[in-house]
Amino acid sequence: MRTKFDGWPNVIYSQQFSRRWIEQQFLPLTDEMERIFRRGGCDLLKGKGMISFFYEPSTRTRASHEVAMRRLGGDVIFSTENAREFSSAKKGETFEHTIKVLCRYGPNVIVIRYDHEIGAEFAAKVSNVPIINAGDRAPGQHPTQELLDLRTIFKHRGEIDGLNIAMVGDLLNGRTVRSLSYLLGKYKKVTIYYVSPGPLMMKDDVKEYLRRHGVLVKELTDLREVASKVDVIYQTRTQGECGAVFDRRNQELGYFMVNREILDLMRKDAIIMHPLPCVDEITREVDDDPRAVYLTLQIDSGTFARMALLKMILAPKA
Ligand code: CP
Repeated sequence: MRTKFDGWPNVIYSQQFSRRWIEQQFLPLTDEMERIFRRGGCDLLKGKGMISFFYEPSTRTRASHEVAMRRLGGDVIFSTENAREFSSAKKGETFEHTIKVLCRYGPNVIVIRYDHEIGAEFAAKVSNVPIINAGDRAPGQHPTQELLDLRTIFKHRGEIDGLNIAMVGDLLNGRTVRSLSYLLGKYKKVTIYYVSPGPLMMKDDVKEYLRRHGVLVKELTDLREVASKVDVIYQTRTQGECGAVFDRRNQELGYFMVNREILDLMRKDAIIMHPLPCVDEITREVDDDPRAVYLTLQIDSGTFARMALLKMILAPKA
């Protein structure tokens, strides 16, 4: 099996990005992409084609990759979601054949969300064009989400070193919190509070990685204990599709809601993030609080981060 595209320009895992690359190349380019977006786009990727192939539902990841491609002048030459239903996967076609066939249609990049772990890594091995991991199944990763989350924190705070962050909810199945943890392992004096019920705690592989990289990790079951200490509350959805069952109203398990009580405890300069979709883990009154960035800055960072990645992959010298 070929391994030509194991690393960059594939985007597979958060660990593949260095701090130097993030700070010296990626983040400045997201600002340039924001300027291009605000003035209506450009033709930097004219003649380039993207396929987005999603085995799981998506709003943000698929839409923002497609918007990013089009705003840079490229084409989305084919796109589907729920590929288990709407592609020949339903008839039993293998993932390997699907990727090899998609490559024959001449894309310059394939954005893939697979419904099993290491889907993107496998796709990169059989593809002859770069693969972007749009999220693979738990305990997988979602590296583009975490680049955009890092950009969101950076825009708000100006730096990542010294960050105190609470990641809340279903940390066992959430791919975003895994990828974000790996990225934060590249920074200094970071403290991560993992706030989750016992059965949904962060896996040991991530915690061991963080300890090796000098990140202070604390685990607890009551968000109220740390809400006043942190710069970021990163709330997550319970991944019911992975079999997680978690009634947040049952306070015997702990306290995992973001609501009025948490807003009152939080610092004025802290922010609330969520990769979305959000179901009931944040009460609606929080949406309008200026510290809630999951419907504003975080979404915008998604577009600019994906524009930056597509530009780096498809027109690195332009
Ligand atoms: N954050 C995220 O991955 O959202 P979607 O599932 O809507 O793409």
